Amino acid sequence: MIRNTATGYGYVAIAFHWTMALLILGMLAVGLYMTSLPQTDPLTFRLYQLHKSFGFVVLSLVVLRLGWRLINPAPKLPEGMKPWERLAAHLGHTGLYALLFLMPATGWLMVSASPWNIPTVVFNVLNIPHLPIPEALGTKEQAEGVFKTAHFYLAWFMIALVAVHVAAALKHHFINRDATLRRMVSTVPARDGG
Ligand code: HEM
Ligand code: HEM
Repeated sequence: MIRNTATGYGYVAIAFHWTMALLILGMLAVGLYMTSLPQTDPLTFRLYQLHKSFGFVVLSLVVLRLGWRLINPAPKLPEGMKPWERLAAHLGHTGLYALLFLMPATGWLMVSASPWNIPTVVFNVLNIPHLPIPEALGTKEQAEGVFKTAHFYLAWFMIALVAVHVAAALKHHFINRDATLRRMVSTVPARDGG
């Protein structure tokens, strides 16, 4: 059961979902923690480098995941959901996909614009070039500020959206008692039609 069916997710979509969910929770936590440390703490620099490395893992995975998603439509939403709930589910998932891409993108642009010019070497092995920054954004400090602000607000937006997403998953499971959460955990619903 590699692929999704009309009633459930296959192994690949499930593996992508939970690997990336763990990575995102870790990235949000480390991002907030490292920015609360003093700049002179040696741990700060190490955590920043780790945050950047895992950020590129997220970016690579989301590209692969979106590719898989394009050739593997998601299962149908459960019967009985109201039209606004269906719309909210689609908008929420689209928003999460957009953030999975926008968070690493704004991070990459931020470090590319930074006057510190610190190289990004993923896990000390793979050198990532800096992106070109449009001159219209002003000095390096100003451009870095734009992307830093975007990264910050998008992070908080992501925290809020993930909280709503988790609440919705739990409501489906414990209140509606449908297969929504089960089908993101197991491939049985994909196999036997829910
Ligand atoms: C899924 C991907 C990512 C998530 C969820 C994430 C999350 C966060 C969060 C929550 C913060 C703290 C925000 C603040 O208080 O300012 C942060 C800061 C930061 N992130 Fe990310 N990040 C991601 C990817 C990246 C990438 C790919 C890079 C760079 C290549 C990056 C570079 C940074 C830097 C340099 C800061 C510190 C900003 C400052 O000093 O104010 N992030 N990130
Ligand atoms: C922490 C970061 C998370 C992110 C970024 C995330 C992202 C996503 C995305 C993009 C989808 C849509 C998948 C698709 O149809 O292609 C999805 C589905 C789903 N997620 Fe998450 N998720 C996260 C955490 C969680 C957690 C903690 C739970 C459980 C409590 C959860 C439960 C679900 C369920 C049940 C579905 C399937 C919904 C359906 O069948 O229509 N997610 N998630």
